[in-house]
Amino acid sequence: MNNKVLTVFVIILSLIAAYLLFQNIQLQSQVDRYVKTPVKTDSTKTTEEEEEEFEVAPLMGRMQIYANKLWFAGDGGNWDLAAFYFEEIEEVMEEIEKTDAKENDVSLSTAVKEWGLTPLENLEKAIVAKDKKLFSLEYTNMTINCSGCHVATKHPYIKIIQPTTPIFTNQKYSSQ
Ligand code: HEC
Repeated sequence: MNNKVLTVFVIILSLIAAYLLFQNIQLQSQVDRYVKTPVKTDSTKTTEEEEEEFEVAPLMGRMQIYANKLWFAGDGGNWDLAAFYFEEIEEVMEEIEKTDAKENDVSLSTAVKEWGLTPLENLEKAIVAKDKKLFSLEYTNMTINCSGCHVATKHPYIKIIQPTTPIFTNQKYSSQ
């Protein structure tokens, strides 16, 4: 390679480097803007507006998945996995417990304690005891309470039951 070719080569490389650096800065500023956008807090909101802001349905969808997996973990005697899904359900309920939002005039925080967290205590005992029979009973009890809260919040048509098929078939639920 003679000097001329080398110079052109170096210039091209520098241009590419400069272009990449520019792209990087642009991306970073986009990320910064996204991360630093403040969450809107407005104390003049009405209860109805607050209700709209607290999205219950996605949390319920998550619980429905975990509840499905929990059944097959417990039924398969995989108590570590059952404990894992139990905690996931509990975490979602604890998130609901923190809100001051209402659903059809019913405080979600109060309702989740009554229909969710309290009945879950017995289910946890069954998992800790690795007792399949008790697990089955308390699982049914949990589903009755899930549906109970739906009745209490005026969604009686959302009925939760014990599943018959795993929602995902690409995971092994039993311990063997
Ligand atoms: C605090 C009371 C409460 C408890 C406890 C509760 N739910 Fe719900 N659930 C609701 C409300 C309120 C809605 C309606 C949400 C909406 O209007 O967007 C709902 C909706 C749902 C839906 C419909 C949304 C969808 O994705 O199809 C499902 C499924 C669901 N709940 C599952 C469960 C399961 C499973 C449990 C128990 C492990 C449970 N829920 C416990 C209050 C509750």
